Amino acid sequence: MKRGNKELKKYIEENIFPKYDKFYAHGMIHINNVIENMMMLAEYYDLNVDMAYTIASYHDSGLGIDRENHEYESRKILINDKELKKYFSDEQLDIMREAIEDHRGSRKTRPRNFYGECISDSDRDFDIELLAKRQISTSIKHYPNYNFEEHFENCYSYICRRLNDKGKFNLWTNNPILVERRDKFQEDYLNKEYAKLVYEKEWNKITKDGTYEKILNYYEDY
Ligand SMILES: [Fe+2]
Ligand SMILES: [Fe+2]
Repeated sequence: MKRGNKELKKYIEENIFPKYDKFYAHGMIHINNVIENMMMLAEYYDLNVDMAYTIASYHDSGLGIDRENHEYESRKILINDKELKKYFSDEQLDIMREAIEDHRGSRKTRPRNFYGECISDSDRDFDIELLAKRQISTSIKHYPNYNFEEHFENCYSYICRRLNDKGKFNLWTNNPILVERRDKFQEDYLNKEYAKLVYEKEWNKITKDGTYEKILNYYEDY
Protein backbone atom coordinates (compact mmCIF):
# COMPACT_ATOMS: atom_id res chain seq x y z
CA MET A 1 0.00 0.00 0.00
CA LYS A 2 1.44 3.35 -1.03
CA ARG A 3 1.55 5.92 1.72
CA GLY A 4 0.37 9.44 1.19
CA ASN A 5 2.10 12.63 2.21
CA LYS A 6 1.86 12.98 6.00
CA GLU A 7 1.97 16.76 6.05
CA LEU A 8 -0.86 16.99 3.54
CA LYS A 9 -2.95 14.59 5.61
CA LYS A 10 -2.32 16.61 8.75
CA TYR A 11 -3.34 19.81 6.97
CA ILE A 12 -6.58 18.23 5.77
CA GLU A 13 -7.39 16.70 9.16
CA GLU A 14 -6.99 20.06 10.85
CA ASN A 15 -8.56 22.33 8.25
CA ILE A 16 -11.06 20.39 6.18
CA PHE A 17 -12.46 17.69 8.46
CA PRO A 18 -13.88 20.25 10.94
CA LYS A 19 -16.17 21.44 8.13
CA TYR A 20 -18.08 18.17 8.56
CA ASP A 21 -18.55 18.57 12.33
CA LYS A 22 -22.18 19.62 12.26
CA PHE A 23 -23.27 17.07 9.69
CA TYR A 24 -24.86 13.72 10.40
CA ALA A 25 -25.53 11.98 7.08
CA HIS A 26 -22.48 13.74 5.65
CA GLY A 27 -20.37 13.69 8.78
CA MET A 28 -16.99 12.06 9.26
CA ILE A 29 -18.43 8.52 9.20
CA HIS A 30 -19.43 9.18 5.59
CA ILE A 31 -16.19 10.98 4.72
CA ASN A 32 -14.05 8.21 6.23
CA ASN A 33 -15.98 5.58 4.28
CA VAL A 34 -15.50 7.50 1.06
CA ILE A 35 -11.78 7.91 1.81
CA GLU A 36 -11.48 4.19 2.50
CA ASN A 37 -13.19 3.27 -0.80
CA MET A 38 -11.17 5.84 -2.71
CA MET A 39 -7.87 4.55 -1.30
CA MET A 40 -8.84 1.03 -2.26
CA LEU A 41 -9.49 2.22 -5.84
CA ALA A 42 -6.24 4.21 -5.83
CA GLU A 43 -4.36 1.04 -4.96
CA TYR A 44 -6.24 -1.08 -7.49
CA TYR A 45 -5.89 1.35 -10.39
CA ASP A 46 -2.48 2.69 -9.36
CA LEU A 47 -3.64 6.27 -8.95
CA ASN A 48 -1.88 9.14 -7.20
CA VAL A 49 -2.76 8.51 -3.53
CA ASP A 50 -2.50 12.15 -2.48
CA MET A 51 -4.89 13.21 -5.22
CA ALA A 52 -7.28 10.40 -4.30
CA TYR A 53 -7.17 11.26 -0.58
CA THR A 54 -7.65 14.97 -1.19
CA ILE A 55 -10.57 14.53 -3.59
CA ALA A 56 -12.35 12.26 -1.09
CA SER A 57 -11.68 14.67 1.78
CA TYR A 58 -12.97 17.75 -0.03
CA HIS A 59 -15.79 16.23 -2.05
CA ASP A 60 -18.66 17.30 0.29
CA SER A 61 -16.88 20.18 2.04
CA GLY A 62 -19.19 22.79 0.48
CA LEU A 63 -22.39 21.34 1.95
CA GLY A 64 -22.60 24.01 4.60
CA ILE A 65 -22.72 26.69 1.90
CA ASP A 66 -25.29 25.35 -0.53
CA ARG A 67 -26.64 21.81 -0.34
CA GLU A 68 -28.19 21.77 -3.79
CA ASN A 69 -25.02 22.88 -5.53
CA HIS A 70 -22.52 21.49 -3.09
CA GLU A 71 -20.32 19.94 -5.77
CA TYR A 72 -19.53 23.46 -7.03
CA GLU A 73 -19.07 24.87 -3.52
CA SER A 74 -16.74 21.99 -2.65
CA ARG A 75 -14.82 22.63 -5.85
CA LYS A 76 -14.44 26.29 -4.85
CA ILE A 77 -13.02 25.30 -1.49
CA LEU A 78 -10.48 23.13 -3.28
CA ILE A 79 -9.40 25.68 -5.88
CA ASN A 80 -9.22 28.55 -3.39
CA ASP A 81 -7.04 26.53 -1.02
CA LYS A 82 -3.54 27.90 -1.56
CA GLU A 83 -1.99 25.26 0.68
CA LEU A 84 -2.76 22.60 -1.93
CA LYS A 85 -0.46 24.28 -4.45
CA LYS A 86 2.46 23.04 -2.33
CA TYR A 87 1.51 19.48 -3.11
CA PHE A 88 -0.07 19.50 -6.57
CA SER A 89 0.60 20.90 -10.04
CA ASP A 90 -2.02 23.00 -11.82
CA GLU A 91 -2.82 20.01 -14.05
CA GLN A 92 -3.40 17.78 -11.03
CA LEU A 93 -5.59 20.40 -9.37
CA ASP A 94 -7.62 20.67 -12.57
CA ILE A 95 -8.29 16.93 -12.54
CA MET A 96 -9.26 17.09 -8.87
CA ARG A 97 -11.57 20.04 -9.46
CA GLU A 98 -13.39 18.20 -12.25
CA ALA A 99 -13.64 15.03 -10.18
CA ILE A 100 -15.31 16.86 -7.28
CA GLU A 101 -17.72 18.65 -9.62
CA ASP A 102 -18.74 15.33 -11.16
CA HIS A 103 -19.11 13.24 -7.96
CA ARG A 104 -22.87 13.21 -7.45
CA GLY A 105 -24.87 10.02 -7.71
CA SER A 106 -27.80 11.79 -9.30
CA ARG A 107 -25.58 12.67 -12.27
CA LYS A 108 -26.47 10.57 -15.29
CA THR A 109 -23.51 11.35 -17.51
CA ARG A 110 -20.06 9.85 -17.09
CA PRO A 111 -17.61 11.97 -15.07
CA ARG A 112 -15.06 13.74 -17.25
CA ASN A 113 -12.02 11.97 -15.84
CA PHE A 114 -11.14 8.72 -14.11
CA TYR A 115 -10.70 10.30 -10.67
CA GLY A 116 -14.27 11.56 -11.07
CA GLU A 117 -15.48 8.03 -11.80
CA CYS A 118 -13.65 6.77 -8.72
CA ILE A 119 -15.01 9.42 -6.35
CA SER A 120 -18.52 8.96 -7.70
CA ASP A 121 -18.31 5.19 -7.10
CA SER A 122 -16.65 5.64 -3.71
CA ASP A 123 -19.49 7.92 -2.63
CA ARG A 124 -22.20 5.27 -3.09
CA ASP A 125 -23.64 3.60 0.00
CA PHE A 126 -23.76 -0.02 -1.00
CA ASP A 127 -24.55 -0.87 2.60
CA ILE A 128 -28.23 -0.90 3.42
CA GLU A 129 -27.87 -0.12 7.17
CA LEU A 130 -25.63 2.83 6.46
CA LEU A 131 -27.88 4.05 3.69
CA ALA A 132 -30.93 3.83 5.99
CA LYS A 133 -29.13 5.85 8.65
CA ARG A 134 -28.03 8.55 6.22
CA GLN A 135 -31.25 8.74 4.24
CA ILE A 136 -33.72 8.81 7.11
CA SER A 137 -31.86 11.69 8.72
CA THR A 138 -31.99 13.71 5.50
CA SER A 139 -35.68 12.93 5.06
CA ILE A 140 -36.40 14.06 8.65
CA LYS A 141 -34.75 17.39 7.88
CA HIS A 142 -36.78 17.89 4.72
CA TYR A 143 -40.07 16.55 6.03
CA PRO A 144 -40.15 16.89 9.80
CA ASN A 145 -43.85 16.00 9.93
CA TYR A 146 -43.63 12.69 8.12
CA ASN A 147 -44.27 9.43 9.91
CA PHE A 148 -42.15 6.33 9.33
CA GLU A 149 -44.18 5.06 6.37
CA GLU A 150 -43.86 8.38 4.58
CA HIS A 151 -40.14 8.62 5.23
CA PHE A 152 -39.57 5.11 3.99
CA GLU A 153 -41.52 5.61 0.75
CA ASN A 154 -39.72 8.89 0.14
CA CYS A 155 -36.28 7.35 0.72
CA TYR A 156 -37.01 4.19 -1.24
CA SER A 157 -38.34 5.87 -4.35
CA TYR A 158 -35.41 8.33 -4.31
CA ILE A 159 -32.89 5.50 -4.42
CA CYS A 160 -34.84 3.50 -7.01
CA ARG A 161 -34.70 6.48 -9.37
CA ARG A 162 -30.95 5.81 -9.46
CA LEU A 163 -31.34 2.46 -11.19
CA ASN A 164 -29.89 2.68 -14.68
CA ASP A 165 -31.60 1.53 -17.87
CA LYS A 166 -30.33 -2.00 -17.25
CA GLY A 167 -32.10 -2.03 -13.88
CA LYS A 168 -28.83 -1.82 -11.95
CA PHE A 169 -27.31 0.64 -9.54
CA ASN A 170 -24.65 2.30 -11.58
CA LEU A 171 -20.90 1.96 -11.18
CA TRP A 172 -18.50 3.72 -13.52
CA THR A 173 -15.49 1.60 -12.55
CA ASN A 174 -15.12 -2.18 -12.51
CA ASN A 175 -13.27 -2.85 -9.28
CA PRO A 176 -14.39 -6.36 -8.25
CA ILE A 177 -14.88 -5.48 -4.57
CA LEU A 178 -17.22 -2.60 -5.36
CA VAL A 179 -19.03 -4.64 -8.02
CA GLU A 180 -19.63 -7.43 -5.52
CA ARG A 181 -20.79 -4.98 -2.87
CA ARG A 182 -23.16 -3.35 -5.37
CA ASP A 183 -24.62 -6.70 -6.44
CA LYS A 184 -25.25 -7.80 -2.86
CA PHE A 185 -26.74 -4.41 -1.96
CA GLN A 186 -28.96 -4.46 -5.02
CA GLU A 187 -30.34 -7.86 -4.22
CA ASP A 188 -31.15 -6.82 -0.64
CA TYR A 189 -32.49 -3.40 -1.51
CA LEU A 190 -34.81 -4.49 -4.28
CA ASN A 191 -36.47 -6.78 -1.77
CA LYS A 192 -38.62 -3.94 -0.54
CA GLU A 193 -39.98 -5.74 2.50
CA TYR A 194 -36.49 -6.47 3.71
CA ALA A 195 -35.33 -2.90 3.02
CA LYS A 196 -38.29 -1.61 4.98
CA LEU A 197 -37.37 -3.73 8.01
CA VAL A 198 -33.87 -2.28 8.00
CA TYR A 199 -35.20 1.29 7.78
CA GLU A 200 -37.75 0.60 10.50
CA LYS A 201 -35.05 -0.70 12.83
CA GLU A 202 -33.07 2.50 12.29
CA TRP A 203 -36.18 4.63 12.79
CA ASN A 204 -37.04 2.86 16.05
CA LYS A 205 -33.51 3.38 17.29
CA ILE A 206 -33.16 7.08 16.53
CA THR A 207 -36.62 8.02 17.75
CA LYS A 208 -35.76 6.51 21.15
CA ASP A 209 -32.14 7.49 21.75
CA GLY A 210 -32.38 11.28 21.21
CA THR A 211 -30.84 11.26 17.72
CA TYR A 212 -34.13 12.28 16.09
CA GLU A 213 -34.24 15.54 18.08
CA LYS A 214 -30.56 16.16 17.45
CA ILE A 215 -31.11 15.76 13.70
CA LEU A 216 -33.90 18.33 13.82
CA ASN A 217 -32.24 20.82 16.14
CA TYR A 218 -28.50 20.49 15.86
CA TYR A 219 -27.22 18.91 12.67
CA GLU A 220 -27.14 20.96 9.50
CA ASP A 221 -27.61 18.29 6.83
CA TYR A 222 -30.16 18.71 4.14
FE1 LIG B 1 -21.91 14.90 -2.29
FE1 LIG C 1 -20.49 12.27 -0.29
